[in-house]
Amino acid sequence: MVTRLRGLPSTRSAATVRPGKAATVLVVHGPNLNLLGEREPEIYGRTRLVEIDRRLRELGKELALEVETFQSNSEGAIIDRLQQARGRIHALLINPAGYTHTSVAIRDAVLALEVPVVEVHLSNIYRRERFRHRSMLADVAHGRIMGFGAESYMLALRAIRALVEAKRSVGG
Ligand code: DQA
Repeated sequence: MVTRLRGLPSTRSAATVRPGKAATVLVVHGPNLNLLGEREPEIYGRTRLVEIDRRLRELGKELALEVETFQSNSEGAIIDRLQQARGRIHALLINPAGYTHTSVAIRDAVLALEVPVVEVHLSNIYRRERFRHRSMLADVAHGRIMGFGAESYMLALRAIRALVEAKRSVGG
């Protein structure tokens, strides 16, 4: 019988984090996030996606995390990227954007990764239209961070660092 530590996802297809080695984190941005800075800035802020990615990589260095970033407007391309990451990454940070509320297929691909997942949103989806209140990842993600604009991503990366460290200390 395999005993799983409550609260930590199983890591069957996750890469092993070697002592002293940086863990790899994949950051996925969903549709329309390529327009950050121009699109509805009163909701999403004025920071552009390239700037968020740059800040994530910089913070990653501080936290000993290797950060890979990916944005696509296409559901299939996001799923392909998640599948390529199987067995290679240690954690996933994902803002599925509009697909948050609809995509069973992205949820399935995330589950197949079997790594800790943090769901991120720039806006607080519960302060917005009802259709945004449902997230297909809510019960799959280890945790969710939203409502802090671009800073949501930085907080999420710090959360991932804590998750990776917790797994290291239990030998996951
Ligand atoms: C979003 C919230 C979604 O409802 C929306 O479709 C987005 C961005 C956010 O980051 O606040 O595109 O994920």
